[in-house]
Amino acid sequence: MCGIVCYVGPKPCSNIILDSLKKLEYRGYDSAGIAVYHNGEINVTRTEGKLNRLGEALTQAPLDGSVGIGHTRWATHGKPSEANAHPHLVDHIAVVHNGILENHLELKRELAQEGAVFSSETDTEILAHLIARARAETGDLKSAVRQSLYQVQGSYAIAVLSTHEPERIVVAKNASPLVLGRGEGETFAASDIPAILEYTREMIFLDEGEIATIDAEGFAIEKLNGDPVRREPKTINWSPVQAEKGGFKHFMLKEIHEQPLAVENTVRSRISVETGDVASERIGLDDASALRVRRVVLIACGTSHHAALVGKYWIEALAQVPAEVELASEYRARGPLVDPNDLIVAVSQSGETLDTLEAVKVAKSGSARSLAIANVLDSAIPRTTDGALYTHAGPEIGVASTKCFTTQLAALFMLAVFLGRRRNTLSQDRAQKLLRGLMEIPNLMREVLTVEKRIAGIARQHAQFSDFLFLGRSYSFPIALEGALKLKEISYIHAEGYAAGEMKHGPIALIDKNLPVVVIMPHDGSFDRIVGNLQEVLARGGKAIVITTSGDKVLDGLDIERIEIPPCPVELTPLLTVLPLQLLSYYVADFKGTDVDQPRNLAKTVTVE
Ligand code: G6P
Repeated sequence: MCGIVCYVGPKPCSNIILDSLKKLEYRGYDSAGIAVYHNGEINVTRTEGKLNRLGEALTQAPLDGSVGIGHTRWATHGKPSEANAHPHLVDHIAVVHNGILENHLELKRELAQEGAVFSSETDTEILAHLIARARAETGDLKSAVRQSLYQVQGSYAIAVLSTHEPERIVVAKNASPLVLGRGEGETFAASDIPAILEYTREMIFLDEGEIATIDAEGFAIEKLNGDPVRREPKTINWSPVQAEKGGFKHFMLKEIHEQPLAVENTVRSRISVETGDVASERIGLDDASALRVRRVVLIACGTSHHAALVGKYWIEALAQVPAEVELASEYRARGPLVDPNDLIVAVSQSGETLDTLEAVKVAKSGSARSLAIANVLDSAIPRTTDGALYTHAGPEIGVASTKCFTTQLAALFMLAVFLGRRRNTLSQDRAQKLLRGLMEIPNLMREVLTVEKRIAGIARQHAQFSDFLFLGRSYSFPIALEGALKLKEISYIHAEGYAAGEMKHGPIALIDKNLPVVVIMPHDGSFDRIVGNLQEVLARGGKAIVITTSGDKVLDGLDIERIEIPPCPVELTPLLTVLPLQLLSYYVADFKGTDVDQPRNLAKTVTVE
């Protein structure tokens, strides 16, 4: 985790770096710091806590200078504290780092034997010592960084500033993201696009094992072994406003409301209702590979894992291919069996989640074809897979994923239709109906979102409960898991998602008046059975919040809170039923006053194990 920002140019840079760091606060926010070169010295300001504390410190004691590096931290080695905050300054060399150095203990022992004195508990400070030592030997910063990186194992994105070469910054990357951007006579580097979007749209993504020197004129990229790298910049068409709150109280609420447009953007230009098909060149998979697939293995973490679970149902139903869903952390650890005819689908909003990336590498060691469903362009996972299907949700800043989830669903649905059409398991007529249904989803989402006020009221009435149960069957089971995860993540209320059919095997014992039960029961083939589950809840005094399809009579007269979604094809209900659950968790959390966009202990992009 952690966020890095670098600036080299003509302007005073501490506020530029601070503002850019604010756009990366989702990556970590337990401490922060900035180092700026001025008149032969590097001055460092660091604070524990969120970035506003750093802002206050800089207001009281401004840092002059126009070359600097900044960091917002999510602790991995060493508790959140000012001493552990980055940058780490050793012998006139300042270093910021995102990642984990696995062999830091051995290196620390060696350095200590040579007399190094450490002022923090971090692995990063060890790297700063290595670089300072190598710089003293070689007299050249880039060579010193390169030499030091050969000694470390693990993941890193780093930026290094030195008083010896104050007009440039050296950056390098391995398994943690870093993007370079060139403005007018000024150059930036950052961990993610939104940080520098205000200044430039032309960006270059560093690849694994690359090192770059940036100065006011631009940058020069090399492999660690010194081979030069030429790469064309990509034009990013996200607007800076998309990365701001736009009048909403929280990013999460804004992103919930952006879902209709985000799904439209993901689907647009990929599907044709007339032909009932999905364009292979827009989906990251060729026709021959689609025909060869004998099994689909979907790999993901967190919310993306829940999207993958829905994807499994779709792939099996529409393409008649067996599909399995794997938690990336488990999959990579257990030495899975991979068949050359498997299709590996990695689902990841950030495209950087370390467990998912490593799981993809494990899967790729066989000769299976691989596809990434990711939101962040050119991120590590889509760069590792054979093909990429990008969701076009725009930047998602709230730690709890919302619009990335529904766009992942849209992408997975298109993949299932694509496979079904190529494999002749899905008729043109049925595909046309399903794709027409998908095209209508954004408008139906807009309709569902109009119930926001009611949901806010329901949330207020239920915010004091300490446990929730979410039940669903079929397509609604993964949505029950997602509803429970959302509530846990941002309101810190214990919640469990369960397959409603499993209720009688355990959770029914929990039901009483103190356990709100959220039942996701749109009109589908399981409706009658889940009505039975609902009756069982009510008979035991449970409080039920029901998400169902409008126009239902069966539920009339029951003592329940009922939230309705408009009718749509059964397969597409997950894209609608999840919206009230996102709003419910948002308003419960907001009512409780938690930090909705940056919930405690969580991070948006998990680049550690
Ligand atoms: C973190 C985030 C979740 C996300 C998960 C997987 O836990 O807080 O919102 O679902 O990582 O992230 P990915 O980027 O791989 O989808």
